[in-house]
Amino acid sequence: MPSILLFGASGLVGSHLVLALRDHYPDLTITVFLRNKNLDVYLYETAKVDKVVHGTFDETDKIVALAKTHDIVINVGSSWDVPLCEAIVEGLKQQPNGRKRSLIHMSGTGNFVDKRWTDGAFHADAKVWSDDDPEDMKIINPEMLNGGPDTVVLNAGKDSQIGTYVVFPSGIYGEAAGPVPALGVIQLVFREKAKELGFVPYVGEGSAIFNCLHVKAITPFMLLLLGLALQEDSPQGSVYERCFIIGGQEMPWKTASGAFARSLHAEGVISSPEAKSVKLEEAGAGELPMLMASNMPFVSPRAQRLGYKHEQSEP
Ligand SMILES: NC(=O)c1ccc[n+]([C@@H]2O[C@H](COP(=O)([O-])OP(=O)(O)OC[C@H]3O[C@@H](n4cnc5c(N)ncnc54)[C@H](OP(=O)(O)O)[C@@H]3O)[C@@H](O)[C@H]2O)c1
Repeated sequence: MPSILLFGASGLVGSHLVLALRDHYPDLTITVFLRNKNLDVYLYETAKVDKVVHGTFDETDKIVALAKTHDIVINVGSSWDVPLCEAIVEGLKQQPNGRKRSLIHMSGTGNFVDKRWTDGAFHADAKVWSDDDPEDMKIINPEMLNGGPDTVVLNAGKDSQIGTYVVFPSGIYGEAAGPVPALGVIQLVFREKAKELGFVPYVGEGSAIFNCLHVKAITPFMLLLLGLALQEDSPQGSVYERCFIIGGQEMPWKTASGAFARSLHAEGVISSPEAKSVKLEEAGAGELPMLMASNMPFVSPRAQRLGYKHEQSEP
């Protein structure tokens, strides 16, 4: 049976995915690569993985060697780490000529922010990205939020024998499965922002649209992508036709920030349950202000054709 190498098994998405692999593909050989050394018993006994390898994303030689010996690499560990992706791609490239190998890479819709407007307001003319339009996917470049690794992966899909599949989720909410209470990226950055400013901000009138999906909607789609990678003798279509955008509810950023403010106030992280309007330049460090200030509308016909659904309740 094919072998899988999974990055990110202790994270929000990966914690669900590793259990879904156990349940849906018990015959696949699963190796997980992670830095947390306290999860071995859980991973072997509950998640039923075949092998745990400890390491960090900067251990390039180790990652190259692992990718060289696995049929399918799934990266839900980082959508920002270019050296990690380069190491994965290098290892997959080093496999014997003619051997089928695949890379399923998780990126994010943060690429698709229309920065022509940064006032936090809804703009009906903002560019609508479609996963069904290869010309849109061709625009992906290293200047985008997740574009560095995406470019490495897409180029590898064009220039080598690696079958690449890239999935772009919007903001992910929900709880991790397993012993690590991983918040995942967007829930973590909201929390960090609240600690930094002492309140949860939104930019301007906050009518710009935030799209989010429940972590439980992601796992079934990752299994569909895995099914595709397993089933295709050689990858079908261009690399741009193996890109999939997935999302869920749309709401104004003001509403999303309000929900985080109430929740973080209830936990005692901040003193007020109200989110506060700020100008972009007052919203502090990191990527969250940029995301809040603009719109990133998208449609997902390609993901939907493959079977993507978002049926979760309100966050
Ligand atoms: N969550 C979102 O809202 C969202 C939205 C769009 C895209 N994405 C992307 O989707 C993917 C999964 O997101 P997520 O929210 O599940 O992420 P997450 O909860 O932050 O999980 C990241 C995983 O990568 C591991 N990791 C991070 N840095 C590492 C390093 N230097 N060495 C070894 N392991 C390392 C973490 O291990 P530890 O447990 O040791 O920290 C964890 O298992 C990421 O690529 C993310 O950028 C997320």
